Amino acid sequence: MVTLSTYTKSAKETDCDAVVFGIFDDGVLPQPLKEIDEALGNSVTQAFKKKAFKAEWKELFVARSLGKYAWNQLIVVGLGKKKELTPEKERLLGGFVAKVAREEGIKRLLVSLDMDSGNLAEGAALGLYRYDEYVKKEKEKLKVLDEFLILNGDQKKIDKATILAEGVNYVRDLVNRPANLVTPEYLANEAKQMSKKAAVKTEVFLPDQLEKKGFGALLAVGQGSVHTPRFVVLQYKPSAKTKIALVGKGITFDSGGLNLKPTRYIEDMKMDMAGAATILALMKIVDRLGIDVGVVGIVPTAENMTGSNAYRPGDIITAYNGITIEVGNTDAEGRLILADALSYASELKPTAIIDVATLTGAVIVALGYEFTGLVSNDDPLSAQLEKASKSTADKVWRLPLTDGFRDVMKGDISDLSNVGKKGKGYEGGTITAGAFLENFVGKDIPWAHLDIGGSAFLLEDTDICPKGATGATVRLLADLLQNWK
Ligand code: BES
Ligand code: MN
Ligand code: ZN
Repeated sequence: MVTLSTYTKSAKETDCDAVVFGIFDDGVLPQPLKEIDEALGNSVTQAFKKKAFKAEWKELFVARSLGKYAWNQLIVVGLGKKKELTPEKERLLGGFVAKVAREEGIKRLLVSLDMDSGNLAEGAALGLYRYDEYVKKEKEKLKVLDEFLILNGDQKKIDKATILAEGVNYVRDLVNRPANLVTPEYLANEAKQMSKKAAVKTEVFLPDQLEKKGFGALLAVGQGSVHTPRFVVLQYKPSAKTKIALVGKGITFDSGGLNLKPTRYIEDMKMDMAGAATILALMKIVDRLGIDVGVVGIVPTAENMTGSNAYRPGDIITAYNGITIEVGNTDAEGRLILADALSYASELKPTAIIDVATLTGAVIVALGYEFTGLVSNDDPLSAQLEKASKSTADKVWRLPLTDGFRDVMKGDISDLSNVGKKGKGYEGGTITAGAFLENFVGKDIPWAHLDIGGSAFLLEDTDICPKGATGATVRLLADLLQNWK
């Protein structure tokens, strides 16, 4: 990853390759830029006067230093209206200018912007991310920005941003990596490897242990694949008084099972372990973030395939807590593996449980790609998440959970159906999925379900995320844990 740090030598003295300044649409040049512009013949001022450069949001003006300075390029970026600048726009701008510099072939960039250095650094580290593990030949040709230096930045904030971005980018790598590599066994091994350096104790349950312990739902979902299920438990500060359980859906590929997904719906289903990757990323960074609550990460992982032993529509399975479930649709597999995981988490008597899952396509219909769906049995926990959502711009939106939705998920010849009675669970699908999950949460435990079905994977680039895996909810949950009340 790019090196992010504060920098004290001014733009006049620096030996960086390029310097970045910003101007709002009032056209006022910040003092050091004013001097530099004068020395370089007032090209910025002239351009603004002639309206060739209006300093609109993300508008660029690039000039050469013509040997007057040690650096080569002056990059001036438009900031638009002063009163419209937000912390999130600072992140986006960080990503934008970092990528502009990289495209220009710049190695060391000095950024002189009157903004929060944590936001700029976070945006840069997120925006520069690329998934390039398999572009071996082109790799040598890829341009790389080595250093993103922030003039008079706050190194503490920059360090925190670096850790968060490392967490997010770790999720992106795991999720973008294809499912022929990332199997349940691979995820469990990765959890073990990662834990060694992270002050986290990790345990992996293998299929025979899952059998003995009664993980009936996880085993059922995984029985159609040669890549057998695993169940991973990761503990950070196990003796802390407050203990937050984080559960992540780890379907390494979701073919839909015998209710096979059609073309246009199946292609990106390597991303169905994004919840699991999110939990691993959080466990990877909790210690470095100095989080002082206990955290237990729980990752049920399986591959949903169509092998000759695959589970069938109509099968009735028994979850870890004894509840029986009729399988109305083998493609509603996420809620099944979460049923076992939430039951297991509840046994540990945590202060709260939060699960993260690419659970429904319905969440895209409801909220699009920018928002994570939130379904919860607890107002204070939801309020904490909404607060974290506001301060990180890792956005969640709460959906209602009422008895009507709960009723729908009851079974006919079993306790529950995974798609509801007469398939009624398809309507309001994100909420009914949440209503199903609630049955596996221990009595009186505050619980929140985060549906990242839309937010985990994008089909278009943004300033801080190339298309593909996003790492949504890592920053949200890191913020929640840091400010836990
Ligand atoms: N992993 C999918 C949900 C999903 C779909 C996430 C598209 C991201 C993009 C999940 O296992 C699934 O297949 N859900 C079904 C549920 C239905 C059968 C009740 C869905 O959303 O169609
Ligand atoms: Mn599915
Ligand atoms: Zn799925």
